Amino acid sequence: MSETDATSGLLTEIDHVAIAVKDLDAAIEYYNKAFGATVAHREIVESDGVEEALVKVADSYIQLTAATRPDSPIAKAIEKRGEGLHHIGYRVDDCQAALDAMIAAGATPIDKAPRPGSRGTTVAFIHPKGSFGTLIELVQE
Ligand code: CO
Repeated sequence: MSETDATSGLLTEIDHVAIAVKDLDAAIEYYNKAFGATVAHREIVESDGVEEALVKVADSYIQLTAATRPDSPIAKAIEKRGEGLHHIGYRVDDCQAALDAMIAAGATPIDKAPRPGSRGTTVAFIHPKGSFGTLIELVQE
């Protein structure tokens, strides 16, 4: 396949790269000090037990994510593996269609159906097992 034939199919953008951090304010300050970057959006997602700060990079975001309670998936991830890369959010036009396509390709869904995410998005998570070790989030704006 030549480069001109390449297509990203259902993927329209890298929506965000999520980084699990212990101290959200410290991480925000670091990104500001290092890059002059400021927070475009900050939100507590109580259902997920997380607080997110989004740093915009072109049409994508770096999502700094901290736990708001001990049973949060972010708290568990940090306990297990320390701070660092947590998941990749792939932007799609139709979360349900992308979820169906991933399941048909053999993926193990964490969310059986799309659900509300932050920023008013619709999201679904795919288990890293069976997806080459990457926790994937499908994000429909
Ligand atoms: Co995410």
